[in-house]
Amino acid sequence: MSERAATAVAHANIALAKYWGKAERARNLPAVPSLSLTLDALRSTTRVVPDAALRADEVVLDGAVASGRSLERVVRMLDEIRAKTGSESRARVVSSNDFPTAAGLASSASGFAALALATTTAYGLAATPSDVSALARRASASAARSVYGGYVALRSGVEAAEPVLRAEEFPLAMVIALTASGPKSIGSTEGMRHTEETSPYYAAWLANAPALFEEIRTALLARDLERLGPLVEQSALMMHASMLAARPALVYFAPGTLRVMERVRALRAAGTLAFSTMDAGPHVKVLTEPGSVTAVESALRGVEGVLDVRVSGAGPDARLVPEPP
Ligand code: DP6
Repeated sequence: MSERAATAVAHANIALAKYWGKAERARNLPAVPSLSLTLDALRSTTRVVPDAALRADEVVLDGAVASGRSLERVVRMLDEIRAKTGSESRARVVSSNDFPTAAGLASSASGFAALALATTTAYGLAATPSDVSALARRASASAARSVYGGYVALRSGVEAAEPVLRAEEFPLAMVIALTASGPKSIGSTEGMRHTEETSPYYAAWLANAPALFEEIRTALLARDLERLGPLVEQSALMMHASMLAARPALVYFAPGTLRVMERVRALRAAGTLAFSTMDAGPHVKVLTEPGSVTAVESALRGVEGVLDVRVSGAGPDARLVPEPP
């Protein structure tokens, strides 16, 4: 099979209906269905160059040579593709994000989606978007969703994500308030395991998340932000409730997190459609209409504890980009 250098771009996504918990650890299958919005402004670019002369895979992430767990996750994906193609070539992988990863914004989703697309192409494996999504999912389940633009679902117990609505069919925006610097303390994979093993509320999360996902999907298909927004807030807070009830508690909120949530409620009381969601970190992502972005952004910049604010519209599919000549 022919091997060549390949470069792919994929965008980060933020879940409107959250994934938290695994049905099967070995295959990394989520225990609950999730639904996300792919973001235009947050992007990973990943280049994979197979090279028969290399003795080991070389991985550089955001300018630093990868080691330990982050190297392992990349090598595992390369091994999976090599096992399929019969190739023995190691690869040089260079990946970078155009958003600050040190600030703790989710980068694994866009990174692994770009890696999955670049790797299948570099090793000459014929792969549909659904195959690429399944490959990305095995590395990090949220990455399955970054293979597609717009609104994307990943159902529980299935291999690949599925597009739900294109970005232009319901153009919403996200205003992201960064409320802490430095990498997050406990990663998602570890945080999920801790919640599954110790939180008495995990069972309640599992029992309620699927119905909430269906409500979110229905409100989205109706393009009804007034209905969608409160459900999105509930999904995030229900997930955080399961984390907070773990032993010891998993608290991802910083003081600024609660202040931003409060400010968003005040904006809403004054008539702006804006809704908060938080992942396994302290930052608040605010879902709103494109016409309200400027007002929401300036409101959030004025909140104590907010270090920076970034704005994004809905983003496109993961894609290959031409190699430099
Ligand atoms: C809170 O996809 O990072 O962002 O599959 O273990 O790699 P692994 O977890 P990951 O979890 C994301 C969790 C979340 C919610 C979401 O994106 O749905």
